[in-house]
Amino acid sequence: MKVCVVGAGYVGLTTSAVLADLGHQVTCVDLDQNKIRTLQDGKIPIYEEGLAELIETGTRSGRLVFSSDTASGIEDHPVILIAVGTPPQNDGSTNLAAVANVIEMIADHAHAHKTVITKSTVPPGTNEWISRVLSDKGLHPESFDVVSNPEFLKEGTAVHDSFHPHRIVIGAKRKKAFQLVRSLYQKIKAPVIETNLAGAELIKYASNAFLAAKISFINEVSRICDAYDADIKDIQRGLEEDPRIGSHFLSAGLGFGGSCFPKDLSALVHAATDKGLTPSLLQAVSDVNETQTDFYLNKLEQDLNDLKGKQITVWGVTFKPGTDDLRCSQSVKLINKLISKGSVIHTYDPVAKIESERVASHDDLYDSVKNSDALIIATEWPEFQAPDWERIKRSMNGTLLLDGRNFVDLESIRAHGLHYLGVARR
Ligand code: UDX
Ligand code: UDX
Repeated sequence: MKVCVVGAGYVGLTTSAVLADLGHQVTCVDLDQNKIRTLQDGKIPIYEEGLAELIETGTRSGRLVFSSDTASGIEDHPVILIAVGTPPQNDGSTNLAAVANVIEMIADHAHAHKTVITKSTVPPGTNEWISRVLSDKGLHPESFDVVSNPEFLKEGTAVHDSFHPHRIVIGAKRKKAFQLVRSLYQKIKAPVIETNLAGAELIKYASNAFLAAKISFINEVSRICDAYDADIKDIQRGLEEDPRIGSHFLSAGLGFGGSCFPKDLSALVHAATDKGLTPSLLQAVSDVNETQTDFYLNKLEQDLNDLKGKQITVWGVTFKPGTDDLRCSQSVKLINKLISKGSVIHTYDPVAKIESERVASHDDLYDSVKNSDALIIATEWPEFQAPDWERIKRSMNGTLLLDGRNFVDLESIRAHGLHYLGVARR
């Protein structure tokens, strides 16, 4: 199949490389000419495990091409897959300007039948609106199909997730559109769920909101554990053994971040309130997450007496390990709060850096802790699990280690004379 993927971000790039690997002829277009030039030069603009190799294989086979000419991409391909960003606005609703821009271009450049597949996460009702806009702009109803086909890939494991999805969700209106998307993914073994446009849109939001709810649930329970002197890891193990609860997304920590959970949660709250509903549970999921960093900031403050002037080292600045993505990172949120309290911040992260004059970014894990009053592990990168704790203890000025992801072995930390503070660990 000839597919034009619009948007060379995390989702668009991964999807393009995967579709090319499945045997399709893919042109990935992006407005950002620098990004396209980088890709044409054989480099990739993001850090994502296995993606560089897959892109290289795709471009070498000739099945994957990059271009900044969106108009020609649309004209030349019968299948258009939209993977542009849909960032949040201040009121929690979704900014659909990029999607609207692509739809406009499709209306202007569609000279033959187009199947328009929305991969970007868009609020319920958006794909109906896309259909209406294309009709209003003069496209005959028989000359296009609109499909909602949300992605479920996690950054850091995006390539693997794309080849091994738990399900393929297709929302469409016509049989031939369902068939086309089924054949696009025919080499992938996964249950296919067919529904209408709003159904597919809502499966995506409900999935992310549910996973976010699991995290806020365990984080709230961790606060209760703290109050009653219980270890959250024991509670987690006790919950995970029940298959009705399941064993994923029950790790307590500083809370969830990233480009999806916070944004999708507020978009779903917004979509519900738009219809006069009161989504109290979803709101609570957000509230717990919003206050989780404050909860640990207070603990740090109690331990260090005052945060003003304290040298604090933060390991891990991305929103989770395995990615260079800083969007809605809880680590960055915590760092900003520490700065506003007057702390001096040092960071180390294996792939990302915070561009700020108020943060000293180090290239070496051991350099980053020199003379520090406290060390915070904000992201669970593997190299933070068992470094030379003796050397770290010697280098630091203080002894406090806040393990914001319950990642390191607390016994060995204590054995080295460091004061361990985890998320409800005993
Ligand atoms: C994706 C999805 O699209 C979003 O809906 C989902 O919730 C999270 O993941 P992501 O791939 O992370 O977004 O977006 P981003 O990395 O911002 O990339 C989007 C790309 O689209 C950018 O490179 C931007 O330049 C490009 N773009 C934007 C276009 O090519 N054309 C436009 O009209 C607008
Ligand atoms: C998420 C969804 O998992 C994916 O299906 C969707 O397509 C996009 O959004 P992503 O944002 O890449 O993926 O990361 P994910 O691995 O889900 O982690 C999100 C956040 O939750 C991270 O900040 C992570 O640290 C946090 N998390 C995750 C926890 O705090 N505890 C957990 O048990 C799991």
